[in-house]
Amino acid sequence: MPTPARYAVIGHPIAHSLSPFIHALFAAQTGECITYEALDGGAAVDGFERVLAGFWAAGGCGANVTLPFKLRALQCADEASAEARAAGAANALRLVDGRVEAHNFDGLGLVRDLAAHGGALAGARVLLLGAGGAARGALLPLVQAGAARIVVANRTALRAQQLVQELAAHLPASVQLAACALDELPAAGAFEVVVNATSASLGGAAPAVPAAAFAPQTLAYDMVYGKGLTPFLALARAAGARCADGLGMLVEQAAASFAWWRGVQPDAAAARAQVQRHLKQQGIECL
Ligand code: ATR
Repeated sequence: MPTPARYAVIGHPIAHSLSPFIHALFAAQTGECITYEALDGGAAVDGFERVLAGFWAAGGCGANVTLPFKLRALQCADEASAEARAAGAANALRLVDGRVEAHNFDGLGLVRDLAAHGGALAGARVLLLGAGGAARGALLPLVQAGAARIVVANRTALRAQQLVQELAAHLPASVQLAACALDELPAAGAFEVVVNATSASLGGAAPAVPAAAFAPQTLAYDMVYGKGLTPFLALARAAGARCADGLGMLVEQAAASFAWWRGVQPDAAAARAQVQRHLKQQGIECL
């Protein structure tokens, strides 16, 4: 029996992370011999760095990193992918010949899950709501997936403008990028895909998106999961849009991390169905 390769997710808090469950499903699917644990980075100033250093010293091969450490995960890396640099944050690390490599698969997870819900991005008009870390991480992958026009709309317009200005230099000229305030959206018409990358759903609120942003075939996507029909999704559904929550994005970014570490692509759709059953058994609301 070979010694299992060690993987982990580091965050704070971390007790309720679904990542160990998801990676155990992937390991069972693929027959890869790994362990995957949840490590708490704690609240100390250098807690994350200490936990990560201890993990590498104990033979760790790769780690996912979640809130609030994604920025620091990028800072501690020796090399970073274009996606991690554009996001200004990393959610996956691996140790290769003593060097730490950083990647960010959140945006790829989003793009793959949009595709799984029939949200074709090639040539699409996309509305991205929010201008924080979640929106930043989504921009480059949305462009790479072929979106023709992306409007970044935020409650505070200045933050949307700053985000677009900062990233425009790194994006191909083929994409039309615009930034605006939420209350300027009625002039922008309807979108094929609307992604809620704000943290409004966590507080039981919806960003003030006009009904005109949605057409009957629009896919409305909330990055949060386990909250049922969020106020944003309820608003989108009332305007006739199709709805999806962020559970698939979580599973898809995990699948991309697993493939990056192990060189084997797991079955994300099968794992997603199992994770959904697992959540429902715990009384957690899923779409
Ligand atoms: P994250 O890294 O998770 O994106 P963040 O950097 O705190 O978190 O950003 C939160 C985002 O959600 C911001 O775009 C914020 O808008 P502001 O920049 O105007 O603060 C947005 N947000 C949070 N609550 C919101 C609400 N109730 N309505 C609209 N936007 C909201």
